[in-house]
Amino acid sequence: MYTSQTASSKSASPYAIENRLQVQHLLALSQNKQNEGSDVVSGLKQTPKTLPPKYFYDDRGSQLFEQICELPEYYLTRTETAILQTCAAEIVQITGASELVELGSGSATKTRILLDAYNNLDLPLRYLPIDVSAGILETSARQLLLDYPSLSIHGLVSTYELALEQLPPTKLNTRTICFIGSTLGNLTPKECDRFFAHIANALQPGEYFLLGIDLQKPKHLLEAAYNDSSGVTAQFNLNMLDHLNWRFEGNFDPNQFEHLAFYNQSQSQIEIYLRSKKAQTVELRALDLIVEFETGETIMTEISRKFDLNAMQRELGARGLAPVQAWTDANRWFGLLLCQMEFPRRNASPAPNSIAAAD
Ligand code: AVJ
Repeated sequence: MYTSQTASSKSASPYAIENRLQVQHLLALSQNKQNEGSDVVSGLKQTPKTLPPKYFYDDRGSQLFEQICELPEYYLTRTETAILQTCAAEIVQITGASELVELGSGSATKTRILLDAYNNLDLPLRYLPIDVSAGILETSARQLLLDYPSLSIHGLVSTYELALEQLPPTKLNTRTICFIGSTLGNLTPKECDRFFAHIANALQPGEYFLLGIDLQKPKHLLEAAYNDSSGVTAQFNLNMLDHLNWRFEGNFDPNQFEHLAFYNQSQSQIEIYLRSKKAQTVELRALDLIVEFETGETIMTEISRKFDLNAMQRELGARGLAPVQAWTDANRWFGLLLCQMEFPRRNASPAPNSIAAAD
């Protein structure tokens, strides 16, 4: 782990970007390189085959995702943005001066709505973006620093779990961990559980968790969002094969696969697959892997779970993350949930001979 704090040489202005930016790398590079692709190998050796959704996001994939967010059928981004615009002032009222820790910062468009709300109340601005991509993190951090002269940023190049275990001490009164964009939907219920445990561990009593989730709705609306008429989602899905080709010296022919997405009602999840159009053999030389496909055989590339807002509140409450307030749009298509880490209950099974601590 090392910290790069770019030297501030000539301009000693307290507003200089270099004085307000710190980027900390938690991923040991060599160790990271060693297991790179082991998830691809295990996923493609499984029956049925799977690939982790993180491989969507090379440069082209990130661009395609930005395009998806603009699609008429893809209601998620625009709905969440609209909710944030109406509730940001309330969130800021509730939390007061709070650091924003954001998991998967991305292009930080929605983060700006929250930063604006803190700014409007003349509250100090501190932002801790967490992203595995150092490039994305630094580019968006620098842009934010240009636009918000009072903002300071401490970025963590890291996986979510590692970062949650090693968050630097809070510099403001409190802290809010933001996980918006319904990225939670990519996690299986088991992974979700583990993730909430990490959140609860990372928060001090009284600190906040802001979660954005896509909600259950009629099947035709969901399926349209993942089978858009202009085919961008299909390109996004197929791009994973191009990404694997360059990253692992593969020879996938994306023309020999097709995009498939449908709503699995019993699991309340969209399932996204790549389906082989013919029997074929694919090699990923850097991984020393040869994979056989039958005609019609699928690789699952993503699940996107759709949640029930009340059930989610109960689940978080059971984790000690007490719901403070929830917001939705008029259609109840998307939900934002603000929770607060509970204070340990003084009468919750005291240890034998322990003396109750004074508040
Ligand atoms: C980024 C995980 C929220 O599940 O809707 C969009 C990804 N996949 N279209 C989602 C995605 C296909 C997206 N998330």
